[in-house]
Amino acid sequence: MKKLILNDGHEIPVLGFGTYKAREQEGIDAVVSAISNGYSLIDTASIYGNEEAVGKGSQESGVAREHVYITTKLWRECLGYESTKIEFEKSLKRLKVDYLDLYLIHWPANAKNYENWQKANADSWRAMEDLQAEGRIKSIGVSNFFVEHLEALFQTARVIPSINQLEFHPGYWQQDLVEYCKMKDIVVESWSPLAKGKVFGNEVLKSIAEKHNKSVAQVCLRWVIQHQLVVIPKSSTPQRIKENMEIFDFELTDTEMDSINALPKMGFSGEMPNSWPDIVK
Ligand SMILES: NC(=O)c1ccc[n+]([C@@H]2O[C@H](COP(=O)([O-])OP(=O)(O)OC[C@H]3O[C@@H](n4cnc5c(N)ncnc54)[C@H](OP(=O)(O)O)[C@@H]3O)[C@@H](O)[C@H]2O)c1
Repeated sequence: MKKLILNDGHEIPVLGFGTYKAREQEGIDAVVSAISNGYSLIDTASIYGNEEAVGKGSQESGVAREHVYITTKLWRECLGYESTKIEFEKSLKRLKVDYLDLYLIHWPANAKNYENWQKANADSWRAMEDLQAEGRIKSIGVSNFFVEHLEALFQTARVIPSINQLEFHPGYWQQDLVEYCKMKDIVVESWSPLAKGKVFGNEVLKSIAEKHNKSVAQVCLRWVIQHQLVVIPKSSTPQRIKENMEIFDFELTDTEMDSINALPKMGFSGEMPNSWPDIVK
């Protein structure tokens, strides 16, 4: 599996496995299936309610801990120095692991929910830096951070985030923000790369897929990795889990990349860092 090197020197596979909504036995089975199909990066979050399932699936796969890359995330209602440390310990316990490969702030604090959003993010970040220095986390990063959140964090950060996990799929790919992250040597990881299925009916994607004898899902995932991002599609269906791995035997041309880049807005989740918990449409 191709890997990218993060700004802290650690490697991350370019293709990983999302687990949102895969809970209990479904989550365990999905993770076992993913690992046996060759995925090594598994993405979860405390809010998904499936860290236990992800931990069990990873253990049941029979693959040694050091060969599975585990990401989890600190929920946005738990920001702060002490609460970050407490939430980190709870996640580790649920996952039944003694370190994380990657820990992310799931969403930045915003002015609606925190009196001083800059401080809330900075305090969580300081806790994560300390945990990283103690060897409890290999890489630390953020998710859904806009430029303003990153720049505020840089005021006090000792460590530059290695990752910013963002909504990125055909029809909504936050080009300026991604360019900014690349300039700062922050790897972008794409969430909802298939827009939760909302892009499958698009005629441009369908015709590109047909040309390569691939599915629309495979074209979307390939488009993401050709942008030099990490991608984490979710599926609980064994055949799709396998299909989503088969993206390394074809290449989109520059013209095809451009035509996907130019697709009109579609599939946007409506989730915005500055206005959560409200959904914007
Ligand atoms: N940081 C954040 O704020 C954030 C937000 C959202 C998501 N994420 C992460 O990103 C991961 C991926 O995003 P997502 O789960 O929102 O959406 P997604 O990966 O874009 O789409 C998942 C949906 O597509 C279906 N699917 C998967 N592969 C398919 C294929 N080859 N053909 C047809 N349908 C297919 C799945 O169905 P089945 O499962 O039924 O097969 C599921 O309904 C999440 O699981 C989570 O780990 C992070």
